[in-house]
Amino acid sequence: ELDGHRHFMHKEIHEQPQAVSDTLEGRIAGDQVLVEAFGPEARSVFAEVERVQIVACGTSYHAGLTARYWLEDILRLPCGAEVASEFRYRNPVLQDNTLFVFISQSGETADTLAAMEQVRAERDSQGLNLPMLAICNVPESSLTRGADLTLLTHAGPEIGVASTKAFTTQLVALALLLVSLGKVQQRLSPEREARIVAGLKKLPRLIEGALVHEPQLEALARIFVDKHNALFLGRGTHYPIAMEGALKLKEISYIHAEAYPAGELKHGPLALVDENLPIVAVAPADDLLEKLKSNLQEVRARGGRMIIIADERAGIASEPGLEVVPAATHVGRITAPITLNIPLQLLAYHVAVLRGTDVDRPRNLAKSVTVE
Ligand code: F6R
Repeated sequence: ELDGHRHFMHKEIHEQPQAVSDTLEGRIAGDQVLVEAFGPEARSVFAEVERVQIVACGTSYHAGLTARYWLEDILRLPCGAEVASEFRYRNPVLQDNTLFVFISQSGETADTLAAMEQVRAERDSQGLNLPMLAICNVPESSLTRGADLTLLTHAGPEIGVASTKAFTTQLVALALLLVSLGKVQQRLSPEREARIVAGLKKLPRLIEGALVHEPQLEALARIFVDKHNALFLGRGTHYPIAMEGALKLKEISYIHAEAYPAGELKHGPLALVDENLPIVAVAPADDLLEKLKSNLQEVRARGGRMIIIADERAGIASEPGLEVVPAATHVGRITAPITLNIPLQLLAYHVAVLRGTDVDRPRNLAKSVTVE
């Protein structure tokens, strides 16, 4: 049912405020996260964890990369994130007391399942403590059946091949994991927990606030219609968000899009910049803002056309050739990447619509990649 939307992707983008509420439902009480949401044994499992390894593919991998920044920065807990197709074949060293987190919308992605089986085989043969958590949107999927602990994202069915609400709810699920690990291990103060929970509760409204900018993003989509390439920039947690924005654009509009951590610009990609390369940057009002601004200046000086998805407090003003989409305000360490991703989804969607591609079923792609 399209409910008046032209495409499922559009419908699913607009369902995100509700999807986030559904992910949080029953998982928080007052200003606390309920650790038991991860299962009755979650508390004892989390108590033993010395590090976290996230394994996933595509968009789900980008959610994992974002969580890696959160876990190390906020909890000081070592965390890795890797795509399943690499992890499964490179014979990685598995260390005792590592929590494995497998993220998948479908729960049927072949590489992710194979990585899980590999961890299981190794823990059985070596007698290691390697608990496996599935963050998944489909109950009774192969992934949830294989995991020791499961947190369902409760995003509802996602029909569009390009993942939108599944990604957003994966990030919310990972924030719940962050708080749960943090409190069981006493790495997070009750005050910090309360602040994170308050942010999560505000998230549906923050996302609504970002969706309001759709007309501006629809107009900006025209810049991309006749372009062959685009560059997405971000730093810190917003680097994975830039990666996700680039993936959305390439998969549904077939425009080559690449994401770079903004600090890497002068190590190569700056050579690409001219008036034919639109650049999309994600600018939160965080401690990397000044550095990001000077990266953007490097691009401006070379004639690149820029779109900046910004926290209003970043204080970046539109000028000719540089358009600011003030998509968020009063967002924090957890809510900023989740909110600032929304305009990137809308931008990719409207570019694809203008180019006349099959938005919900892009060529060569399947919703669930059950073969490697
Ligand atoms: C991108 C997209 C894919 C999936 C990837 C993993 O929009 O949909 O990159 O994210 O195939 O799929 P799941 O999450 O089902 O394991």
